[in-house]
Amino acid sequence: MSKQLLPVYDKPMIYYPVSVLMLAGVREILIITTPHEQDQFIRLLGDGSRWGVSFTYAVQPSPDGLAQAFLIGADHLDGGPAALVLGDNIFFGHGLGEQLSDAVSDVEKERGCTLFGYRVSDPERYGVASVDREGRLVDIEEKPEKPKSSLAITGLYFYDSDVVEHARALQPSPRGELEITDLNRIYVERGDARLVDLGRGTAWLDTGTQDALMEAGQFVQVLQHRQGVTIACLEEIAMQRGFISADTALALADEMGKSSYGAYLRQAALDYLDER
Ligand code: G1P
Repeated sequence: MSKQLLPVYDKPMIYYPVSVLMLAGVREILIITTPHEQDQFIRLLGDGSRWGVSFTYAVQPSPDGLAQAFLIGADHLDGGPAALVLGDNIFFGHGLGEQLSDAVSDVEKERGCTLFGYRVSDPERYGVASVDREGRLVDIEEKPEKPKSSLAITGLYFYDSDVVEHARALQPSPRGELEITDLNRIYVERGDARLVDLGRGTAWLDTGTQDALMEAGQFVQVLQHRQGVTIACLEEIAMQRGFISADTALALADEMGKSSYGAYLRQAALDYLDER
C-alpha cells in the first residue's frame, strides 16, 4: 500500500503535509496518487468538507517525476499560483505558520518561487542548494555525489502562476523523470527563486527509510506527550483557521468515540469556545 497512508505515530502520514497546506491557508487541494491507490485516499480524506477544504483527486499513471504534478494539475490551478507538498514530508516548528503565509503572499505579489532549505547530515539524498555569500540561491543539484552545501531543498514549494508553462518546457532527466529540481532551476536562472532557511527551530522529518519513519513517529510521540498537543490535528487547524466552527469541531470529536485523538479535539474545541 501507499507509504503516505501508513501511520506516523497516531495518524496517517498524509495528515502532516495536508496540515502544512491548511496552515498556509490553501483550501483547494488536488491529491495526486497512483491509479490503484486512489480509492484508499478518497476513503480516508473524502471531499474535505469536514475540514472546510476541498479535496479533488487525480492520478499519475506512472512515476514520471514530481514536476509532472503541474501538467496533471493544470486544470485545477486554472492559471493561478500553486503550492506543492510531498505526501511524505513532515514539518513542525514555531513560526512555521508565518513563514508559510509569507511564502503565499510572496508568490502572489512578487511572483517567482519560494523554496525551503534545511540543513541535514546527509544532503546527497536530496536536492541541494548552493548559495552565494549573501545567502542568495545560485544553483540546485539533485542528489549530488559531492554536495556543495548541507542545505537540502525540502518537499514544499510555492510557485507563481507561470509554473505550468515552465513545467511544460521541461525535458525528462537521464532517469526519465520530469524533475522538480529542473523546474526550480528555471526559476533560479531567472533570478526568481527565494530560499527560506527553515533553521534549527523547525523540524523537517523524513520518512524515506525504516529508521527515518520510526524516528518521525517517536518525535511526534515525544512532543505530543510532553506538550499535551496533537501535531497535525486537521480538525483543530481547520477550527483555528476559521474553516469550520468550534461547534462543528465538537461534533466531529463526538463522532470519534473514545480515541485519544477525539478526546484531544473535544478539549481543543471547548478551550476555543471558552476563549471567545
Ligand atoms: C524529492 C526531490 C528532492 C527533495 C526531496 C524532499 O526527492 O527530488 O529534490 O529534496 O524530494 O523530500 P525524492 O524524495 O523523490 O527522492
